[in-house]
Amino acid sequence: MLVLGVESSCDETSVAIVRDGKEVLSNVILTQIDIHKKFGGVVPEVASRHHVYNVSMVFKEAFAKANVKEEDIDLVAVTEGPGLIGSLLVGINAAKTFAYIYNKPIIGVNHLAGHIYANQIEHEMEFPLIALLVSGGNTELVYMKDHFDFEIIGETLDDAVGEAYDKVARVLNLSYPGGPEVDKRAALGKDTYKLPRVMLNHDDYNFSFSGLKSAVINLVHNLHQRNEEVDVNNMCASFQSSVIDVLVNKTLKAVNEYNAKMLVVAGGVSANKGLKNALEKVVPCKLSIPSIKYCTDNAAMIAACGYYQYKKTHQTRALDINGSSTMELKSL
Ligand code: KG4
Repeated sequence: MLVLGVESSCDETSVAIVRDGKEVLSNVILTQIDIHKKFGGVVPEVASRHHVYNVSMVFKEAFAKANVKEEDIDLVAVTEGPGLIGSLLVGINAAKTFAYIYNKPIIGVNHLAGHIYANQIEHEMEFPLIALLVSGGNTELVYMKDHFDFEIIGETLDDAVGEAYDKVARVLNLSYPGGPEVDKRAALGKDTYKLPRVMLNHDDYNFSFSGLKSAVINLVHNLHQRNEEVDVNNMCASFQSSVIDVLVNKTLKAVNEYNAKMLVVAGGVSANKGLKNALEKVVPCKLSIPSIKYCTDNAAMIAACGYYQYKKTHQTRALDINGSSTMELKSL
């Protein structure tokens, strides 16, 4: 089954063609990072305009790279939400137009499920599993007994972990997006600044990263006011140690309590090397972390997720499918 995946929920325009949920024939990603860099973050209106400029070109390249014809596609899978509504709508309308012209069935895919199913491209999920979903907009621990059976057992009460990374990077004058930059600097530094481990010992699976982010911002401002230098590498290492301590501790607890056969890590922050190293040392079950190209937003994960979703539900959607900026991860 050839699935055409379309993803435009934030600042990446991506189109992919994937066979049977595993064989990625093409995965074209046009990122707008350089455009948003000068603003220090994604500007939604600018993002949706660039999706409009780019989307036809990305479709064409995905077909050229995969060397398949439009008529060969069996199913169109498009990110329905959550995300920036103006951005989502560009991908959704492009996907609907394609489905209409070529008379193909279409389904909507949850972006967060897409991140989880990025793992299924290279590995085989084993249930029950725990998914640690860590991205720019979400931080969740999800228990899955089977395909598309999602139980959110914990989540952030404020900032998402990727968001905290981006804000800490900004106060340290590191470039956007902050996650990869902080990760690189952290590897060069030491955990010397004593930062809090928020909710580490709480008896639940929830997280909070806004206090940690504020602790870094206040510390940097205090040091500036006292004309003292900030050791950026050590600050990154201290921040990352705190994040990793909390994420790893709570994830490990969930893996043990739910007798998980596998831990899958999903979302942009799954590209974090410090997190990967820490998990590899302690996780008692199988660990799946996608290759970097499937960690951040991409359409291959949407096509793969769409394939397994269709296999489970055999349901397609009408062409009135619409975007949902706040769509939740729900079982099917
Ligand atoms: O999943 P994603 O591409 O977009 C969302 O759906 O949110 O995640 C983007 C987030 C950004 O906050 C970015 O800073 C973070 O993932 N990120 C990282 C790393 N690479 C990307 N955070 C920590 N370490 C990284 N290596």
